[in-house]
Amino acid sequence: MNSPTFLGSRLPLIQAPMAGAQDAGLAIAAGHAGALGSLPAAMLDAAALERALRTLQASGLPCNVNFFVHTTPAPDAAREARWQAALAPYYAELGLDTPAAAGASRQPFSHALAEVLEAFRPPVVSFHFGLPAPDLLARVKRMGACVLSSATTVREALWLQAHGADAVIAQGLEAGGHRGHFLDKDPALQAGTSTLLPQVVAALDIPVIAAGGIGDAEGVRTAMAQGASAVQVGTAFLLCDEALTSAVHRAALQDPRSPTALTNLFTGGLARGIINRIMREQGPVNETAPPFPLATAALGPLRAKAEAAGSGDFSPLWSGTNRSGCRAAPAADVVQALSRGFVSG
Ligand SMILES: Cc1cc2nc3c(=O)[nH]c(=O)nc-3n(C[C@H](O)[C@H](O)[C@H](O)COP(=O)(O)O)c2cc1C
Repeated sequence: MNSPTFLGSRLPLIQAPMAGAQDAGLAIAAGHAGALGSLPAAMLDAAALERALRTLQASGLPCNVNFFVHTTPAPDAAREARWQAALAPYYAELGLDTPAAAGASRQPFSHALAEVLEAFRPPVVSFHFGLPAPDLLARVKRMGACVLSSATTVREALWLQAHGADAVIAQGLEAGGHRGHFLDKDPALQAGTSTLLPQVVAALDIPVIAAGGIGDAEGVRTAMAQGASAVQVGTAFLLCDEALTSAVHRAALQDPRSPTALTNLFTGGLARGIINRIMREQGPVNETAPPFPLATAALGPLRAKAEAAGSGDFSPLWSGTNRSGCRAAPAADVVQALSRGFVSG
């Protein structure tokens, strides 16, 4: 498979954007090996985005730039006080002052970020939590980008197709990190990749990309046989040399006994991570946590103090259910292992 795919990369494989766990370095390493590398931009301001895009541009590789498109909720003092009260015993235990007030950890896509993007015109732009407002989406389309977004149900996939997505990522329940849901927010309505994918393929006229639980060539082969036009893989890249995965996160990923769960404790949004102390004691889902993305601030000091002592008790340890593809090796090795799934026979 040497001719470029509809994504512009040699392989129909996207190294999933993973905010907080990577920068342009992983995207470039995966890109050189034939995948489409992704730059997660949810935690970047305009200046940081420009720097990262310059680095990517110098590589000469195609890339996917990824944004969140949530609406930031108004702070609610009473709710934050309840969340701070729930966390107060941990602050006392770690010898820290009262929790910080809630604050947005992740910024939604905006005209200011679109302006930066226009100078670089990446061939692929992906969104999580739906699509941006029509004028902003039109701006991205005018750049000539192929627009992707994640769907967790057939209803969301149909909505994305009707509102201008060029391809849809079918994100099964196995996926690590945040659920991309925006219409069907109850995970009870959502299915695993092998159930969701063929349903979305049957319902849509545009290409479908499979995501969630794909860790080896066999997983790639199964998704392609179910009608996927490409696959998007995140968790399998988390131990790579070029990833920025923290030491406590790497240690948890390497423990085969540690199960994952969906939790809202770290950001307020539902995301899959390895179960740790705070998830066991306060969740994994706790209605007191402020809504996405406001919950992050109060846990920040606990996380920093614990991580400095080598503990992941208060850290988001994002992971999909399938860690069998993780390798403490160059990203090129992971791409090569997955690429065998595209070879027929
Ligand atoms: C550490 C981590 C961070 C993630 N951050 C993002 C992100 O910033 N944007 C996004 O669209 N998806 C994000 N995701 C979800 C991925 O796009 C994808 O759906 C998921 O990794 C696929 O499942 P897998 O992890 O089993 O391969 C993240 C996933 C992980 C594991």
